[in-house]
Amino acid sequence: MTKKILVTGRAGYIGSHTALVLLQAGFDVIILDNLCNSSQESLRRITLITGRTPLFIQGDIRDIELLENLFNKHNFFAILHFAGLKSVGESVRNPLTYYSNNVVGSTILLQAAIRAKVFRFLFSSSATVYGTPAEVPIDEYAPTVDPSNPYGRSKLIVEDILRDLAKSDARWKIALLRYFNPIGAHESGLIGEDPRGIPNNLLPYISQVAIGKLKKLQIFGDNYPTRDGTGIRDYIHVMDLAEGHVKALQALGAENTEHGVHIWNLGTGNGVSVHEMIKVFEEISGRPVPYEVAERRTGDIAECWANPKKAERELNWAARRDLRTMLSDTWRWQSNNPNGYRDNV
Ligand code: NAD
Ligand code: WQD
Repeated sequence: MTKKILVTGRAGYIGSHTALVLLQAGFDVIILDNLCNSSQESLRRITLITGRTPLFIQGDIRDIELLENLFNKHNFFAILHFAGLKSVGESVRNPLTYYSNNVVGSTILLQAAIRAKVFRFLFSSSATVYGTPAEVPIDEYAPTVDPSNPYGRSKLIVEDILRDLAKSDARWKIALLRYFNPIGAHESGLIGEDPRGIPNNLLPYISQVAIGKLKKLQIFGDNYPTRDGTGIRDYIHVMDLAEGHVKALQALGAENTEHGVHIWNLGTGNGVSVHEMIKVFEEISGRPVPYEVAERRTGDIAECWANPKKAERELNWAARRDLRTMLSDTWRWQSNNPNGYRDNV
């Protein structure tokens, strides 16, 4: 029988790519998203690519009545929980909005899951829970630290809630998927990252400079103790990340996978600096990316990259797309859709 998966937040960047891979792998996908940071156009484009139209429910994960109806109607095999807010700066300005969406929202969703006896749960966590790592690469046994901002703290709180739940009831099988820096887009150029307003993250900013929507990039500090002074991160192709979710879902479904909480880093194991990103992006796009060096951004760390061996061993998954593929897929998405989903195909 086809397995039904509830995907929250799936109209968004990572959720849309993961839903696509789930549909292609034969799962039945039901989507819950309030579209606060996404558009229904991403769903239409997934239908163009896959030929399948999953059921979409526009609603909020905090709407308990809606959830109860949903869980009464469908027998879910698992929940993939992407829904949440993700801007670090905005979380500092509006902490309650972040705790309400990310923490309260997750607990309401989990309450509904318990009532419906759905005990397989995959949570979108972040490498941000490692804070400033004592050493790189970072494996899953590295300590987590109190993050310096409400966004990061909301991720760690939900991780802790999930650990407590697993202790309270042995039926749970939970995956904490700690993403490093997702970038790139589906190779068709039809779906990709569509930030609202001025992007916070490096790659959407670089691509909007290259397309001419923004004047120049600011490099936040070139005096870090790294090989060229700029910050180093583990950028991972969003399609590799999406495939990692399907592997993690299959692992939670396997009889021989232990109950409880499983933590998997989803990264490549390679670090890339800001200067290196600019250089390769210029080569691939054929466009200049003018920049100036600015002050360090508060809260930034010098370097962060994953040791992804645990996921390789336990999920039989490894990121396989290289930096050039990540950047050419980003550029295809950006140049075909200079205004994101506002440019309908
Ligand atoms: P996104 O903003 O593109 O997608 C999140 C989706 O959740 C959006 O479609 C939004 O409309 C929806 N949503 C938000 N609050 C909701 C609510 N209360 N009810 C229903 N829907 C709601 O973000 P993304 O980059 O796809 O991130 C997905 C998840 O992965 C988030 O939880 C994020 O914190 C986490 N994450 C992202 C990154 C990253 O760099 N993009 C890194 C690590 C972890
Ligand atoms: C990467 C590098 C910047 C923008 C953030 C969140 C993290 C996670 C992923 C969700 C750094 C430099 C950036 C710019 C720059 N999200 N930079 N100029 O900070 O590693 O992680 O997104 O969970 O929680 O904190 O990613 O893309 O913002 O920055 O020089 O305009 O690029 O200083 O070295 P980061 P990023």
